[in-house]
Amino acid sequence: MSNILNKLKKKLAERAAQGNLRALKTTTGLVDFCSNDYLGLARSKKLRKLIRQEEDKYTSLPLGATGSRLLSGNHLLFEELESIIAAYHKGKAALLYNSGYMANVGLLSALPQRGDTVFYDEASHASMKDGLRLSFAKSYSFRHNDVADLQQKLKLATGQVYVIVESVYSMGGDKAPLEDLAILCEKHNAALIVDEAHALGLYGEKGEGLTVALGLQDKVFAQVITYGKAMGNHGAAIVAPNVLRDYLINYSRAFIYTTGLPTHNLIALKCAYSLLPELTKEREHVKQLARQLQENLNKIPSIMCPSSDSVILSVFTEDVAQLKPLALYLQQKSFDVRPVMSPTVPIGKERLRVIVHAYNTEEEIVGLVQAITNHL
Ligand SMILES: Cc1ncc(COP(=O)(O)O)c(C=O)c1O
Repeated sequence: MSNILNKLKKKLAERAAQGNLRALKTTTGLVDFCSNDYLGLARSKKLRKLIRQEEDKYTSLPLGATGSRLLSGNHLLFEELESIIAAYHKGKAALLYNSGYMANVGLLSALPQRGDTVFYDEASHASMKDGLRLSFAKSYSFRHNDVADLQQKLKLATGQVYVIVESVYSMGGDKAPLEDLAILCEKHNAALIVDEAHALGLYGEKGEGLTVALGLQDKVFAQVITYGKAMGNHGAAIVAPNVLRDYLINYSRAFIYTTGLPTHNLIALKCAYSLLPELTKEREHVKQLARQLQENLNKIPSIMCPSSDSVILSVFTEDVAQLKPLALYLQQKSFDVRPVMSPTVPIGKERLRVIVHAYNTEEEIVGLVQAITNHL
């Protein structure tokens, strides 16, 4: 036993020595420039009230699913919600998963077969990479958002080809060139899979995500939709052709071998979907605030904040060593801003990740820029 514990301690000490030791924190009362609650639905009184009202209609359902959906854990609300999801994202069918992590692992471990080839953007989320590690298919990364590099790498393809991207990247907030990717995939008969985690709620007339906003739903083989971010909730869905839904029900271990989502989670998602279309003002406001913040940050001489066109901003300092003290200073000044360090991002790409929300105010934006200026 002590042998194992000593090994673990040594690994932790290695992280600490690199200055990258992670620890859990609870923060309250700070101005939120950190959470993924882009539209404020996690704190919406209207949504809370709606969920309470709706819960009274479903008292005949169990609180928890009580089992895997293939056993005792399925009921009509799952199917009802999946129909709503499929229609909302202009797909044929949808299958709920317990989280975005599980959706990606469940999809990518099961879909590509031995002999197939997967190409994924190097900046893809850990859950996609973990799914691919469980797959028997060969996988290759291509340079971030570099369609020419992907085109070059496609020469390595055997079997069915899959291309995997995020529509809006979780770390940089930049968009994938989805239209170009769709053209390339069509040419090579490759199936394009798009993770919409950071685009849901923000793009499209009703916040459907970037795939639908660009009218690409028929060119994208599967959309991964996650509910822990702009939907202010939890869970995920894969929007896909009916056959893929049936296939996942049969072969996706992250779907099969786990208890289904609890009823209150399904009700909350149904309610969040009913509010999503009307959040147009919030969508516009948050993007305008993000643009304002980005412009003002770039006026600070030692700061670089690339245009992201989303509500996730990366703030680079001249020296990486400045990041942690800067984040700490901002937190002391009541702004919840976190540094993102290696191994979450590659060495040399460490940054502050600043997230703007519909409930942030212009004063908070001005205050944050002022605080960063004061510190540097
Ligand atoms: C692109 C992307 N996909 C999937 C996930 C995982 O989603 P969840 O938090 O629902 O597990 C995240 C979360 O950080 C993400 O950024």
